[in-house]
Amino acid sequence: MKRRDFIRMMSFAVAATATGYPKAQITNLLKLEEAGVPIATLNNGVKMPRLGIGTFLQPSNEVCRASVLSALQNGFRHIDTAHAYNDEEGCGQAVKDSGLKREDIWVTSKLWVNDYGNDITPRAIDEMLARLQVDYIDLLYVHQPVGRVLEAYHAMEVAYRAGKIRALGISNFDYPDERCEALLKELMATAEIKPQVLQVECHPYAQRLDVKEKIVKPYNLQLECWYPLGGQWSNGALLQDETLKRIGQAHGKSAAQTILRWHMQEGHSAIPGSKNPDHINENISIFDFELSDAEMAEIRGLNKEQRFYNATYEQTMGFAGGGPRR
Ligand SMILES: NC(=O)c1ccc[n+]([C@@H]2O[C@H](COP(=O)([O-])OP(=O)(O)OC[C@H]3O[C@@H](n4cnc5c(N)ncnc54)[C@H](OP(=O)(O)O)[C@@H]3O)[C@@H](O)[C@H]2O)c1
Repeated sequence: MKRRDFIRMMSFAVAATATGYPKAQITNLLKLEEAGVPIATLNNGVKMPRLGIGTFLQPSNEVCRASVLSALQNGFRHIDTAHAYNDEEGCGQAVKDSGLKREDIWVTSKLWVNDYGNDITPRAIDEMLARLQVDYIDLLYVHQPVGRVLEAYHAMEVAYRAGKIRALGISNFDYPDERCEALLKELMATAEIKPQVLQVECHPYAQRLDVKEKIVKPYNLQLECWYPLGGQWSNGALLQDETLKRIGQAHGKSAAQTILRWHMQEGHSAIPGSKNPDHINENISIFDFELSDAEMAEIRGLNKEQRFYNATYEQTMGFAGGGPRR
């Protein structure tokens, strides 16, 4: 029996809830180990599934709920959202509707810049918990290294001690700009609870070797990759790459599966985004094959440190100036 059929067989029938959201109960029988997802032990001892579903650019909370529910039905147990994506409610509803135990799902979110500050961040975290309908967040990031980010981080430490957050993350602290580098040093120097995870753009065309050397290794962080498949602005460049397609074909796999398998074997965490249930299933069906050392080396050889998102630090600092606070 195929893994997908096994998971479907284990799923309960659909029923309606009072919220109007259809409810699809998923049995807890499908443990992470059965799906094959590798688990990272973070520098605070907390264990995180390394493959997750990304939710950037989900067009609505309802679509997001359906995508995340599909991911949970297919064995994903890690959800990546953010206040800025405006879809935390959909993620939280999918967690509820899945019928899975809260502790079996890893929920990540990110504080947006407008929520940075001693006077704002504590309330912003509580509001986030309410949007997600959870008592705690597994991993909370400061989304961008600008504005009052240090105050936000220190408020996150308070929430961590209060049991509202299990791991602390820093996102996009990789701008090649001395002001960003200084901010990272100050954060690391002043943090009583050092961060566990760094989230940056990373894929075979931008393998971020400098970031690994300068940030990930010295600070003992787990690297989590956004745009793991190249993202929307790549126009599918990685998915069309002849080397990735050829290596995939040798294993009966797609280029997307080959890329995600490469991420897993590199030790990355990766959070591919999708609204398509077939893609979602495809993206987790990567634990029944292995890339050889030669294939891993060939994919490493594709690196040209070519990012698909190229905002300058100056432009990102503009985020600190405004934007709606929902
Ligand atoms: N920290 C940050 O600043 C930051 C920035 C960007 C993203 N992120 C996070 O990282 C996640 C991943 O990034 P992303 O979603 O932008 O980019 P991505 O995962 O690299 O690519 C997503 C795109 O690939 C398509 N796709 C997914 N699986 C596929 C498959 N098997 N075959 C063909 N196409 C496939 C999706 O379309 P379909 O919907 O049609 O499948 C979507 O257009 C985001 O969702 C978000 O959670 C964080």
